[in-house]
Amino acid sequence: MLTGRFHSSSTIIFVSILITFIYNIHSDAASNKPAWGRNGVVSSAHVLATEAGVNILEEGGNAIDAALATIYMLNVVEGYSAGIGGGEFWVIRIAETGEVVTIDGREEAPATAFRDMYLDSLGTPNGALSYTGILAGGVPGSVAAREYAFKKYASQSRKKIMKSAIDAAENGFMVEPGQAAYYEYLAPKLGQFEYSKKVMFKDDSTTWQAGDILVQKDLAETFKRIAKDGGDDFYHGKTAEEIVRYMKENGGIITAEDLANYQVKIREPIYGNYRGYEIYSMPPPSSGGVHLVQILNILEGWDVQQLGRNSARWFHHLAEAMEAAFADRAEYLGDPDYVIVPVTGLTSKGYAEQLRNAIPRYWSRRIDKPGNPVDFETIPPENPESGHTTHMSVIDRWGNMVALTATINTGFGSGVVLGSTGIFLNNEMDDFSIAPGTPNYFGLIGKEANAIEAGKRPLSSMCPTIITKDGKPFMSVGGSGGPKIITGTLQAIINVIDFELNVQKAVSEPRIHHQWVPDALYFDQDISPDCAIELNRMGHKIAIGAVGSGIQAVMIDQETGIMYGGADPRSGGLAKGLP
Ligand code: DON
Repeated sequence: MLTGRFHSSSTIIFVSILITFIYNIHSDAASNKPAWGRNGVVSSAHVLATEAGVNILEEGGNAIDAALATIYMLNVVEGYSAGIGGGEFWVIRIAETGEVVTIDGREEAPATAFRDMYLDSLGTPNGALSYTGILAGGVPGSVAAREYAFKKYASQSRKKIMKSAIDAAENGFMVEPGQAAYYEYLAPKLGQFEYSKKVMFKDDSTTWQAGDILVQKDLAETFKRIAKDGGDDFYHGKTAEEIVRYMKENGGIITAEDLANYQVKIREPIYGNYRGYEIYSMPPPSSGGVHLVQILNILEGWDVQQLGRNSARWFHHLAEAMEAAFADRAEYLGDPDYVIVPVTGLTSKGYAEQLRNAIPRYWSRRIDKPGNPVDFETIPPENPESGHTTHMSVIDRWGNMVALTATINTGFGSGVVLGSTGIFLNNEMDDFSIAPGTPNYFGLIGKEANAIEAGKRPLSSMCPTIITKDGKPFMSVGGSGGPKIITGTLQAIINVIDFELNVQKAVSEPRIHHQWVPDALYFDQDISPDCAIELNRMGHKIAIGAVGSGIQAVMIDQETGIMYGGADPRSGGLAKGLP
């Protein structure tokens, strides 16, 4: 959402973006030195969460154990980003088989949800309802996804994995200055709901301040039940009962049946090959993997290194490729269990070539409609040789890797804490297209493919991604920032593969973002004015302001076996290795 105004008809504009607030709260600029280790490395958006993950690795746990410990801790210390009232996507590489699997724990529209549920009697969309309050939430999928990962791949007990998160919820953690400012900023939203006020306010009018110890006893009790009974508690047990009670008493529509019927979906990853690296990412209902691979395919036809890092010519090529992909996102992407998504066409080299050939090399054009990937939709012959949001990445000593992105959507989701569970309910219903062409919180538009239907999953941009080289582990990466997740993850990958930067520098570098609508090329603050002027001359409408995404990545040097990690200074956090 743009909070600034496009001040004049001038095409260089300065914007402030609400969502970027959180990306600027951490004042400590990271150095460009990556973390490293020989026995594993974890990167996440919070120091305590990364440490929880590394500790589990140290105690003999694998990457899946570490991911679980990290993500539960993030729920406690970064409750505005993600939690068990939301959804998440896992991409996992299993060292033993080399197989890469994805877990779709995305929220689902409740059974009584319907296409026009956010339109008023005159048919006008009411975005406030899909954004704040009890009707904004989809049926949460995070616990189900974690349970699947736990039962199938974990090596440690749930109690051990969740212990640090339970301790931090029960005994509290110290609020950072940037977090305190964010709580205050969101106080008008949080103050509307009885239980949210109880959790986030220290007295009637003040949210928790820097240096305060934020204790979440209710959440600790819920975590203890999950540590004991797992998903059963959340979907059928005491937690489910309290969620349903709160829903009934407050005009919500998520029922006991909605919770009981929720299932994770195990999906084939989106697969691409970029300059000899194998890319595995999240398939629909995320748009992340499809467009990541689509943009990489377009870029592969150019000598990116020769175009020049941080040059106007490079940013021009990159922006045009992004714009083409986002035009297709608005048309074709949605929940594949409800609509046909032309994934093969969108991720084919042939379609990318067609899109690339249409990109003018020296000036910007405006794309007036999406392309036609359907012509490229034939199944390729099988190759017998090949078989608010937060992101964390981990590699362990055995070569297991996890890329995990979790979300309750915007800061503190719907703003509602679900009674005495201590859980923030997501506002993921806003990721649906509530009416054709009506922009959502992130300015994204969509059509029928992403219209609301009972049981359908809203389109996402999250793209947890795992990259291998010759089948061996290379990188795990992903991020937060709505649509900027796709473009941020993309640029981190390019910075490593094409510009040969270390993984910390790769996530810290200035970035750009274009999402077709609005017609604006977003720039990080620290991109040179000369570059902005040159791009403006080429016809781009430049929006200068922080590019609100936070990227976390880990990788391994295949020759030495040393593992490296980088955490985006925009979202703070930490990458840490196990020596
Ligand atoms: O799934 C999605 O694409 C969004 N709900 C992600 C939201 C997000 O990244 C908020 N971030 N800063």
